[in-house]
Amino acid sequence: MTMTAPTAQSAAGDAPTLADTAPKLLTLLAGYVGHRTVAIGLRTGLVPTLADRPGAGADDLAGVCGLDPFYVSVWCRAAVGAGIADRSGDGFRLAPHVATLLLDTGSPAYVGGVFGVLEAPEVFGRFEDVFATGERMWWDDTSPEWIAAVSGTGTPFYTRLVPGGLDRVPGVAEALAAGCRVVDTACGAGIGVVRLATTYPACTIVGVDGDRHSIEQARARVDEAGLGDRVELVQSALEDMEIDTPARVVVNNISMHECRDIDRVTENVAAALEPGGWFVISDFPFPDTDEGLRTIPGRVMSGIQFFEAQIDDQLLPRAAYDELLTRHGFTDLGSVQLPPMHALTYGRRP
Ligand SMILES: C[S@@+](CC[C@H](N)C(=O)[O-])C[C@H]1O[C@@H](n2cnc3c(N)ncnc32)[C@H](O)[C@@H]1O
Repeated sequence: MTMTAPTAQSAAGDAPTLADTAPKLLTLLAGYVGHRTVAIGLRTGLVPTLADRPGAGADDLAGVCGLDPFYVSVWCRAAVGAGIADRSGDGFRLAPHVATLLLDTGSPAYVGGVFGVLEAPEVFGRFEDVFATGERMWWDDTSPEWIAAVSGTGTPFYTRLVPGGLDRVPGVAEALAAGCRVVDTACGAGIGVVRLATTYPACTIVGVDGDRHSIEQARARVDEAGLGDRVELVQSALEDMEIDTPARVVVNNISMHECRDIDRVTENVAAALEPGGWFVISDFPFPDTDEGLRTIPGRVMSGIQFFEAQIDDQLLPRAAYDELLTRHGFTDLGSVQLPPMHALTYGRRP
């Protein structure tokens, strides 16, 4: 039996070998293949069709989705490889819980929206196009498809926030049940204002967002839900926000890191709150260590940073919000970790 002599470095046990490192690269390739397989499966309808027809073969799936049967068989095999589908007789079925994770927009575990977000040109494509100039953009430079995809990503954040996350902020559930005014700052396409208005029927809700298209989408969503009498929508930069009637609760969902002047926005939030009112920031907790960056949520959030850079911001570590609220005199600070990559930070206006 022959043995290769260890190198000085590997013998010292502190440097990875080439054989240790190669799987890291192969894992990236495999992740890319899995990501493209899921995204294609969502766009073409193969994933929802498999959810409806467990055991369907490639020919059946091709017929229902209007796709080429041979290509569908290639997709199905890749889906098995990625672990999102299993073989079932002569056909295939989604692996357990995949339908919830990829299709159930009402589930707190829904991640289906993130696949579309990461494939959108606004994330990697435009970043690479303007890499040399660093040209920035804002929401009104993005496409309607992008805004729809982002609101799909924001949906499970609202699902975890309302009511479960808010229930964990001492005193808030009682205030909301009794009825009060609530402001959703950076309300986007209106998922949150509708969720707040339907969950807390005694409350009136104000949604504020700086982007015209998002406010139009929010207005259509509120009208469709028949909530126009209890939801007011305002197009305004949060840096210029003026709320005439003070609110008991102000929330911000996955947007606080985007504020161009986060201190001015926090001053405006404090001015919009009644004394004792709560500000609840619901956001991605960006890792503040290299170890955290190398976790799965850390790696996904690093992808989101490519978009954030183009609108001139970055996701923030959760502790940055403790410092922000402390700087502005908020009291009774607290935080809640909501898996997989979500945290609340809250405080009360004195
Ligand atoms: C990631 S989206 C989230 C939207 C919504 N909260 C959700 O979760 O679906 C960010 C939103 O923040 C808005 N926004 C970002 N910075 C803003 C600012 N300084 N003033 C007003 N709106 C802002 C954008 O227009 C966009 O609609």
